[in-house]
Amino acid sequence: MKKYVILAGISAIAFACGNQAAEEKKADAPATEQAATAGPSADEEKGIELIAGSDCLTCHKVNEKAIGPSYQDVANKYTANDATIAELAGKIIKGGSGVWGEVPMTPHPQVSEDDAKTMVKYILSLKTK
Ligand code: HEC
Repeated sequence: MKKYVILAGISAIAFACGNQAAEEKKADAPATEQAATAGPSADEEKGIELIAGSDCLTCHKVNEKAIGPSYQDVANKYTANDATIAELAGKIIKGGSGVWGEVPMTPHPQVSEDDAKTMVKYILSLKTK
């Protein structure tokens, strides 16, 4: 009888460990993904925050077209340099149209130029090709 109890104990431990290994694997996955893209820099984190705090996400998704183009498509279309960053920041503030289709982007006069540039830097960091 005692033998059975011990056996049951051992299999319970084995089961627990097995589970833990699976959990650890799950927890690891996003970390490896982040490592592959080097992870967001402090500036990019700020950009994410600003975008989340504004209305951008009602019209834009990171990797899927919504009312506006996906941020990944925007990133893939442009080369990140000062001129592009200034131009796109201007469009966020003043609104834009005709580049991605007929639907215009609403202006965001409440967004400062610096904040708009920070948002653009984050968006352009999403380049996949
Ligand atoms: C009302 C919907 C809407 C909102 C809100 C919105 N956008 Fe847009 N955005 C669009 C559309 C539509 C386009 C495509 C415009 C075009 O074809 O030129 C666009 C284009 C863009 C572009 C690419 C511009 C270009 O010329 O390639 C960027 C960058 C962008 N949006 C960033 C933002 C950011 C950042 C915010 C939040 C501050 C935001 N958008 C809020 C609809 C929106």
